[in-house]
Amino acid sequence: MNLTDDEQRMLDGGDGPAVAAAMDLLVRYGDVLGAERLVDTDNVCGANIFNAAQRRLAGGTADDVFAQISLDSPGGFEIPRMRAHSCQLIAPMDTVEWKTQGTPEPVHDAIVDSESYSGRHGINLMNTCTPYQVGNVPARGEHCAWMESSAVIYINSILGAMTNVEGRESAAAAMITGKIPYWGYHLPENRRATVHVEVDVDVETNRDWGLLGYAVGKVAGETVPVITGIRSQPNLVKLKHFGAAAATSGGVEMYHIPGVTAEAQTLEQALGDGEKPLSVRYGKDEKAAAYARLNVTADDSDVDLVMIGCPHASLDQIRDVCDLLGDRKVAPGTALWVFTPRAIRLMAESSGYGDRLRAAGGVLMSDTCPAIGRFVPDGTRVIVTDSAKQAHYLPAIMKVQGWFGDTAECVDAAVTGRWRGALS
Ligand code: F3S
Repeated sequence: MNLTDDEQRMLDGGDGPAVAAAMDLLVRYGDVLGAERLVDTDNVCGANIFNAAQRRLAGGTADDVFAQISLDSPGGFEIPRMRAHSCQLIAPMDTVEWKTQGTPEPVHDAIVDSESYSGRHGINLMNTCTPYQVGNVPARGEHCAWMESSAVIYINSILGAMTNVEGRESAAAAMITGKIPYWGYHLPENRRATVHVEVDVDVETNRDWGLLGYAVGKVAGETVPVITGIRSQPNLVKLKHFGAAAATSGGVEMYHIPGVTAEAQTLEQALGDGEKPLSVRYGKDEKAAAYARLNVTADDSDVDLVMIGCPHASLDQIRDVCDLLGDRKVAPGTALWVFTPRAIRLMAESSGYGDRLRAAGGVLMSDTCPAIGRFVPDGTRVIVTDSAKQAHYLPAIMKVQGWFGDTAECVDAAVTGRWRGALS
């Protein structure tokens, strides 16, 4: 890889051993990827909260733990404040509802320590998979280094920012150096579509968008799809569900919906001058197939947990759950957990939604989610969610049955304790 004089000086230790270790990691990573150079970045989202087990495994000081887990280095040096503007994505635990989530006290204490370490090192504690909902909104063309597939697909496609899905180590190295290998979605020529999905059915509700995303991800895999035939205007929440689902069933990191996403106003612009795209249709049958795949793990209608907020819920989604609940209460033996970013939780509390949710027997949580934190209420066998991503992952991760449906069906399941959803 070709380095500038400044980058070579950093690699040679001119800015200290931690920067040298981070540069060494980026150069090794970039060489494997075939990147010819690095690119500057001042917007990095990573994951550096260490739990008790990771701390024990790594050993040494907190700096050594960071070096070993996040920089693939033995450590023995001090970690400086992050050079790039940096933020913490999802975390392993909610620092408020940690007991409800079943977190043991020593694990809680280690995570709180780790958060404080990150804050002291200049990492903004956003603690969400949706930083773009709480103030980290990159500009079009801005080179970023973000982890979290659902966030990457959102900022690449909707905002026109430029990032690949980074790993914990490359994101940490980017935080320390302000550099990331220039490859993949940093290059304009890799952002053109090679798969064309023609939609031939109404796509309106959050559930519709999740189903479309799940189907698109399956056909597009790791390529860039362009979607046409959408007749209604999607909002942030619908696009959040679509992107998370497409990144789950495939590895989609970028897509175009001409007139909606950032970089293409027409099908021709989305395709560029490349080869003829693979063309597929999404109609009633494809929608039904996606629905069936998402509900394949469930056959028991008795519901233990209703999970809403994957990706993390917006303030509007929390209000919608409260409105759907009305005066009804969550059924005995069923839990209703709603997940949101830490900052939105504050707004939800001041708007009275936290009280309304708790009065109904639900719980408002932030910072984490069951799939990442690996927790559900004790004895949970059946979960219900309005998220294609959570319905895909949670049954495999927590060995539970998972029903997928729309938000109203999920709230109905919470108050009746029974799943009565169906694809209409
Ligand atoms: Fe976010 Fe967890 Fe879903 S990280 S996208 S709520 S699986």
